[in-house]
Amino acid sequence: MMRRLIFTILPLIILTPILVRGQGMWIPSLLQSINEPQMKSLGMEMSAEHIYQVNESSLKDAIVSFGGFCTGEIISPKGLLLTNHHCGYGQIQSHSSVEHNYLDDGFWAMSMAEELPNPGLTATLIRRIDNVTDQILEGVSEELSPAERQSLIDRNINAVLSLATKGPYEEVAVKPYYKGNMYFMMTTITYEDVRLVGAPPSSIGKFGADTDNWVWPRHTGDFSLFRIYADSNNMPAPYAETNVPYQPRHFLPVSIDGVEEDDFTLVFGFPGKTDEYLPAAAVEQIVEVLNPARIAIRDKALEIVDSFMRADEAIRIQYASKFARIANYWKKWIGESQGLTTVNAIGKKLDEELAFQQAVEASEKYRDQYSTVLPGFERLYTQLQPLALAREYYNEVFVRNIELLRVAGLFGRLPDLYADNGEAGYNDFKARLESFLAGFYKDFRPEVDQQVFVELAEMFVNGVGIPTLSNPVLESMDSAGVKGFEGLAGMLYKNTLIGEATSAQELLNLPPDQAIAAIQNDPLIQLSARLKAAYDQQVAEPYGQINNEIADLQRKYMKARILLLPGNYYPDANSTLRVTYGQVMGYTSYDGSAYEPQTWMTGLMEKYKPRDYEFDVPERLRQLYADKDYGPYADADGRMPVCFIGTNHTTGGNSGSPAIDAWGNLIGLNFDRVWEGTMSDINYDRRFCRNIMVDARFILFVIDKFAGASHLIEEMKLVRPKQPGYVPDWKRDARPNQEDSRYPVPATGGSETINIQKRKK
Ligand code: ARG
Ligand code: GLU
Repeated sequence: MMRRLIFTILPLIILTPILVRGQGMWIPSLLQSINEPQMKSLGMEMSAEHIYQVNESSLKDAIVSFGGFCTGEIISPKGLLLTNHHCGYGQIQSHSSVEHNYLDDGFWAMSMAEELPNPGLTATLIRRIDNVTDQILEGVSEELSPAERQSLIDRNINAVLSLATKGPYEEVAVKPYYKGNMYFMMTTITYEDVRLVGAPPSSIGKFGADTDNWVWPRHTGDFSLFRIYADSNNMPAPYAETNVPYQPRHFLPVSIDGVEEDDFTLVFGFPGKTDEYLPAAAVEQIVEVLNPARIAIRDKALEIVDSFMRADEAIRIQYASKFARIANYWKKWIGESQGLTTVNAIGKKLDEELAFQQAVEASEKYRDQYSTVLPGFERLYTQLQPLALAREYYNEVFVRNIELLRVAGLFGRLPDLYADNGEAGYNDFKARLESFLAGFYKDFRPEVDQQVFVELAEMFVNGVGIPTLSNPVLESMDSAGVKGFEGLAGMLYKNTLIGEATSAQELLNLPPDQAIAAIQNDPLIQLSARLKAAYDQQVAEPYGQINNEIADLQRKYMKARILLLPGNYYPDANSTLRVTYGQVMGYTSYDGSAYEPQTWMTGLMEKYKPRDYEFDVPERLRQLYADKDYGPYADADGRMPVCFIGTNHTTGGNSGSPAIDAWGNLIGLNFDRVWEGTMSDINYDRRFCRNIMVDARFILFVIDKFAGASHLIEEMKLVRPKQPGYVPDWKRDARPNQEDSRYPVPATGGSETINIQKRKK
């Protein structure tokens, strides 16, 4: 049964190798059915079953979700884990102090005993991925309302999860793909003792910082090393001194042969979220309304924080990571809007929609069902627009950028929890709040936040578009008898108890009834509660309703496109394990400037600015460069490579993902996209979209020659796949033959009628 849907949808997903090299984030368990011929035509030597297989070890056994927000890969038989410097940043920072500033100076454990534990950090492996579409959509028909449909699906998901067979420590989860037209179940295992092994100084790991972020050519050694530990049975266990290095089912050998233009590459990891199938109306809303609003709000916030950071060294350190976080997506949205406009993504979507509508009208069978999809989008996005804008304003102003209002929101939950769950609920949340606050106040300066409040609250009142949402702000101005945002901010930040650690802790130390009274009297917490109430009622609720209708249309649009316009359809990213593949390739930008696919140490040294906070180069690296002391890691001409780009389709969450060559070896570490490629979450354009990877040779060079941590190199398996006589491991091992393969290719193309049609009856 399960197989039939694959067989019926797959023949409709037709890959055109010449046109799409690089586009798509594919499901590992379907590679053999959908992608393998194209991957081979791009130069892949191994086969799909070497990438993903359930019963034999395969590349997937070396890939982990790192802490749930990044990707990492195992590169030694002793559980050594490679990820980005910016992914390990929080851990590196948490072990740092004035005496041991690992962010500035780097950190290298010279023995396993020196590796540093990180409470809360996890590494999750994927054991298997099963297509459960038929079970999840059992009994679901188009006659059901969206709400009925969802509740039936939820019930089916629970049934599937409760029947799933799991090994020890394994967990299962079901996720929708293709907008809810397919469902897959993931079986995972999560290790919870993950220790810091090594990190270069930020002048390598974050070289170029915000100026070079989202930009090519790039010279950042954005990597760090961790190690997974297990109990004596190789099973997950909380941190314990007696834990031992995890022995993986597979680890990636590391190639020191490097890359050339056109080489096959694949990137294996956990992309977070993409929106490749939005209608033109939605893209227009992003470009014309939503991105401009959020960019303008962050412009202001960044300007204020930057001015404080420049004036005060302590603030610079406290706000460095926050500033980088706000600046990262601020810059991304600017690049995204520019890209979407330059390539006329809206026009392209409109052309697609025209073709879709014509196909629908021409189809006797589907006309009735699908001819209202596009007009539906048009109507719903028009209704959504003011709500979407208000939502963006609320989140950017009061949740993401005025920090104390976010904290006020957390305090505001205590009275509700007390009312709902009594003292137990109150104390449980209070404990979590206290541990959050310990970290929060360490890097918080009320004078910075107050200034952000002055500017952003005013932007909110003027820009939110739904005037009644501003009432709580204006009312608190009135009741305090102050005029203007400066006066309001002055009053709020002076009178609140949560502006600094001591008074906040004193508040939490009160008995619950007194604490609740104080919370309810706090002017800042009051304002946050009123804003939230207004927002929930006037925005969140209607937004949610319209959004559900849009999601239902999006599901129909996806299905109808697959049925009527066969093509290169891949499911949007949803934080599950995916394979994207392409080639090493340079590009020519909008203005005609052409870029090579590889950067070198010479280019890094060109950018060197002594003592600059973004472009300083450590002395030892300069010396190695002067001596051309590159060990075995230089290319054939004696040059030291740093980064390279390819056509792999990546997004946030792919940070730390391995770039893998045609034989299954590590050749690089994904960490970013080029400026023109920031639009790829909405519109992948093969001319401009490139992902940026650190060259594996630069990583080895830094570990070995720069840090002197050659014991780590000895753990790894270095290979030279481009030399004569190279035999990959999978050629040496006995592999199952074609008949044994778990995913036989269907003998003939199926017809789409089978499952999709069946469900509709
Ligand atoms: N742009 C990359 C990614 O989205 C790297 C971000 C970290 N670096 C930085 N300068 N903020 O996340
Ligand atoms: N830097 C991104 C991250 O942290 C990945 C790169 C991208 O978004 O392309 O996940």
